[in-house]
Amino acid sequence: MQAMIPQKTLDWNPGRPEQALTLPARYFYDEGIFRQERDRIFYPAWHAVAHESEFEEVGAYVVTDLFDQSVIVMRGQDKQLRAFHNVCQHRGNRLLEDRRGKTQAVIRCGYHSWCYAQDGSLRTAPRTERLRGFDKSQYGLKPVRLETMGRFVFVNFDPDATPLASITEGAEAEMRRYLPDLDRMKLVSETDVIVPANWKVIMDNSIEGYHFGLSGPVHKHLASLIDFKGYRLTPHDKWWTYIGPPMPGANSAYGESLAGATWQTDWFFNIGVWPNTTFYCFPFSDILGTFIMIPLEPEKSLLRFGYYAPSHRPLAQVTKSCIRWMNEELGPEDIQLNVTQQKGLRSFGYDQGRYLIDAERSNESEHLVHHFHKLCYDAIQAA
Ligand code: FES
Ligand SMILES: [Fe+2]
Repeated sequence: MQAMIPQKTLDWNPGRPEQALTLPARYFYDEGIFRQERDRIFYPAWHAVAHESEFEEVGAYVVTDLFDQSVIVMRGQDKQLRAFHNVCQHRGNRLLEDRRGKTQAVIRCGYHSWCYAQDGSLRTAPRTERLRGFDKSQYGLKPVRLETMGRFVFVNFDPDATPLASITEGAEAEMRRYLPDLDRMKLVSETDVIVPANWKVIMDNSIEGYHFGLSGPVHKHLASLIDFKGYRLTPHDKWWTYIGPPMPGANSAYGESLAGATWQTDWFFNIGVWPNTTFYCFPFSDILGTFIMIPLEPEKSLLRFGYYAPSHRPLAQVTKSCIRWMNEELGPEDIQLNVTQQKGLRSFGYDQGRYLIDAERSNESEHLVHHFHKLCYDAIQAA
């Protein structure tokens, strides 16, 4: 039986989007591809880990794990924000396990109590006075690169990575056009969901509007809030947008009346940053959402939904209902599609299909999926 089943292809010709076959199915479950993505896409990329407002107090920290790596971002006594590898420099014990917290003056390793100041320097290390030639200054926490965009904090493991600001040139200005209160955002809540699907399956679903009117009822509700003809998906190399104007005359959303509600934008605004970060706003809702697909295994991802809102006004009921709607209705409807697509991708009966791409790059065109697949493919190929 095994010998008669041909190995599915890894050959792909990105070609012209209109004519290209889709990225072969094996890219969505193959172990070798997954390792190459880790090494060539994720380790050298910028990753959004938190918003600056999460570090208002000295010692406040956020921990983010990515594959076998873990990073601490922390506010120091000197008010500076820094990122460190989450590992003790004695014998390699992981230091912090909680996603968020606040240290009292030092980070203490739970194994032999080496203590690090909030700037990462090694402050005390019990019994090391017995050591000849031990120089504490050589054993500080190892730094990780940190940059911000729109007050969101990004980290990168690659000391030689191109600066985030160069990769995302123009992106922050686009965010500010739709989010005038970007600087006043505060974390409202964060929800992590494990999805049994490849991270690209989840991404692909989020960067096309073809399924909006054609899949489930919750998507139809979303489409009803947008003047969908005007929805446009625009690639800019390592970042991209998909934006739609509000439906004129809409008077309710997410089960709430819009009477008296306030929001930053009534547009459906989404901006993606290579490889796996999305910021978005739903129409008539006063949240800025983050949507991050963190690969765990070839066919398992952690989907992190962050919700931020302007801190200087109370959360409108429509906004609260929108968060609930995303967590309990739209998210699950998409996740169900992610799960069934992941199952189909392994079928002996499927290898490659076609992208639905039209000349005018319309609201339903899948050109952004092709663009994203080409970025992934090029990164994997670049040895
Ligand atoms: S491993 Fe951290 S103090 Fe020993
Ligand atoms: Fe969707």
